[in-house]
Amino acid sequence: MEASAQTNRTDPVRLKDYRPTPYAIRTIDLDVRLDPENTTVTARSRIEPREGTAPGTPLVLDGDELILTSVAIDGRALGTADYEATDKRLEIFAPPAGAFTLEVGTRIAPAKNTKLMGLYRTASNYCTQCEAEGFRRITYFYDRPDVLAVYTTRIEARKAEAPYLLSNGNLIERGDIAGTDRHFAVWHDPFPKPAYLFALVGGDFARISDTFRTMSGRDVTLEIYVEHGREDRGAYAMDSLKRSMKWDEEAFGREYDLDIFMIVAVSDFNMGAMENKGLNVFNDKYVLAKPDTATDQDYANIEGVIAHEYFHNWTGNRITCRDWFQLCLKEGLTVFRDQEFSSDQRSRPVKRISDVRLLKSHQFPEDAGPLAHPVRPETYHEINNFYTATVYEKGSEVVRMLKTLLGAETFRAGMDLYFARHDGDAATIEDFVACFAEASGRDLSQFMLWYKQSGTPELRVAQGYDASAKRYTLTIEQSCPPTPGQPTKLPMTIPVRFGLVGPNGADLAFEAVSGAEVAGDVIVVTEPKHEVVFEGVSAPPVPSLLRGFSAPVRLALELSAEASLFLLASDNDPFNRWQAAQTLATTALIEATRAVRAGAVPSIDPKLVDAFARVAVDDKVDPAFRALTLALPAEADIAREIGSDVDPDAIFAGRDALKKAIATGGRTAFRHLYESLASAEAYSPDAASAGRRALRNSALDYLAHAGETDSVMERYRTADNMTDRLAALGLVVGLGLPEAEAALIDFYSRFDGDGLVIDKWFTVQATAPLAATLDRVRALTEHPAFSLTNPNRFRSLVTAFATGNQTQFNRPDGAGYAFVADHVLTLDEINPQVAARLLSAFRSWRALEPRRRAYAEAELKRVLDKPGLSRDVADIANRSLG
Ligand code: ARG
Ligand code: ZN
Repeated sequence: MEASAQTNRTDPVRLKDYRPTPYAIRTIDLDVRLDPENTTVTARSRIEPREGTAPGTPLVLDGDELILTSVAIDGRALGTADYEATDKRLEIFAPPAGAFTLEVGTRIAPAKNTKLMGLYRTASNYCTQCEAEGFRRITYFYDRPDVLAVYTTRIEARKAEAPYLLSNGNLIERGDIAGTDRHFAVWHDPFPKPAYLFALVGGDFARISDTFRTMSGRDVTLEIYVEHGREDRGAYAMDSLKRSMKWDEEAFGREYDLDIFMIVAVSDFNMGAMENKGLNVFNDKYVLAKPDTATDQDYANIEGVIAHEYFHNWTGNRITCRDWFQLCLKEGLTVFRDQEFSSDQRSRPVKRISDVRLLKSHQFPEDAGPLAHPVRPETYHEINNFYTATVYEKGSEVVRMLKTLLGAETFRAGMDLYFARHDGDAATIEDFVACFAEASGRDLSQFMLWYKQSGTPELRVAQGYDASAKRYTLTIEQSCPPTPGQPTKLPMTIPVRFGLVGPNGADLAFEAVSGAEVAGDVIVVTEPKHEVVFEGVSAPPVPSLLRGFSAPVRLALELSAEASLFLLASDNDPFNRWQAAQTLATTALIEATRAVRAGAVPSIDPKLVDAFARVAVDDKVDPAFRALTLALPAEADIAREIGSDVDPDAIFAGRDALKKAIATGGRTAFRHLYESLASAEAYSPDAASAGRRALRNSALDYLAHAGETDSVMERYRTADNMTDRLAALGLVVGLGLPEAEAALIDFYSRFDGDGLVIDKWFTVQATAPLAATLDRVRALTEHPAFSLTNPNRFRSLVTAFATGNQTQFNRPDGAGYAFVADHVLTLDEINPQVAARLLSAFRSWRALEPRRRAYAEAELKRVLDKPGLSRDVADIANRSLG
């Protein structure tokens, strides 16, 4: 056992070991002849030694599962004494002293590529995914982001098999190959790029076309390629693309740079989407939508992901990363940009609340467990395991804090400087932050700790008011818990946006402040402890801290229930009104959980029930905001707040008790709401309509929890869009109502053959908090619509069970863990990346009560002990067991 665990350990890659390559690759001409089993790739690269490279320094290129068929330099085939090739690397022992042309021939089998990295088959098409290290599965190359080359790509295929042949850049030539059933296309991308941005697509698609006129008056062709028969589902993606292009011009002065921008939607994809230069490849769930198959959330996701990948053209492509440690340089920044875009397109407070919910439910637990890592990690075993909520979402928060600290104008000046100075570079976080230090004149060296220290910092705040002196004091202490490899932490720069809310609900003025830098409405915390003293405060305020969630930290501030209720009603910061409701609910939920564990019946404060019912029907407030306020903290959030000795069944029961108390106490309000929000209008995915639907479905949810289940089936049957139909189906199935089976059969027959909708059908069943769920999920793995090779299908059932079903994944008998571990091991032989993601569902195992913890640990060990584990899964298992 010990021995096999040893074989599943490798040496890590370290940031401090970064060295440039001895050779530069200036251009690469690819010739790819597509065939399912026998694709041939010829790569002709112009290579030259970098300055300082000693003559005769070996050229060592990356490869992965390649068959080498030829190697030549400057037209002369190399002998076997001149090089060594394995499926992982190609070493040329003594390349010429000056510039030379290397020609490498390789053979690959896309149809056998179930890892979906490199060139693979999806439906009957060919596509590529090269980030992070997939290009080495196409040809031997310097597969790292700091080697930038100009690509010219010739693709050849049978015309019938692949009428469309696409690659990066602009199409420069195409034609038939005389006397054969084949044709070809040649693409040229003038912008030097790293290999991870290469893409190639060959296949038969339906094409949707449009144009966009850029700010300098150039017309850009826009094309979206989708599966035949799905043409009616591409309009929203196209519209989102055009709005993104416009927004990036207005908000950041960034114009598109090629004559054509293409998006290809594929049904087999490991992640969300990929920003390949001029040729984005998307998981089709982030492209395809029409009202009866896509929910409001799907529409919002499409808008966000289309924007995200488009924005990468500047933050990622024009300026790329020096090495994979700098991943947040493009991802954190681009998430920030897509969040800002969606905020401008929709409601800013609602978007902010949704983003913070995601951060708290995904990133906070990551940061609190064994997989915690800095926004810029310093070591990794498998880079694909670092496309995480920390790199993406916390990375975005770090950029947002820069903007908060510097102010919008200076932030924009820093961005402009970054674009001007680093266009065409493979840059680092230091390069990025230096632009803001320069634009602002601020020393940002302490700020850099946000990139280096892992863990969620905590602010402990106490307050005091001296009525006779009109003096108000906030004592703010910061700390950050130990995380893997970082037992102690340094104090960080934490911007705390705040207001001192006076008795009438307006912010109180103050005459002077000491004890910390206060810039406008931001307290800049830098020391372990600050005594911030406000003079001339006319009445005792209620502090509203971290407005807009100005820093990704935990806030420990003892506020009475009255004070929270007051903020919920009066704070002029909408985010903190929402937060006040969350704080009240969280306190009640922790209490209720404790009661359940002690064998008592939870008692719920009627004032809380009343406050929720009042929010529900407050017509002065945006419906989307009301819906978010009515959504109780998720079970996983409560578990995170409890922190240790977690019993998921007690959390569920406590939460259910609070929900039923609100439902019963607010029954009249919810009934009124449900009826008054009925709409005869045709479905539209806009934010305002979506908000009304969200509020109405929230009312339906509470009514169902009050026992009024008739409305639910009625809703299911009469729904004219997927948002409403799925909301009703989720309630019928999740509450285990007698109609559940009939509804599931109906839903399946309506959408049979529509993979993305069947995914919803799988997820509804996998996430039902019912004792019978595990057996059902197990049975569904045998369902003809399920697939181990299609990541969307797999995730919608198995990963959804592991991450979206707290009580059943964490069954007290350990059977949920065993089921998931079995699937990790099965899938590891097919698709290690998706298997590793699934295994990370165990990341909070140490916080569980002892019995579950022991079961979870045993399953993690069982996984780790399997000989021949992928690096992806071994890395997660090793770190989880820490
Ligand atoms: N760069 C892509 C994005 O914008 C993510 C691709 C990650 N793919 C992977 N196999 N690691 O978000
Ligand atoms: Zn990205």
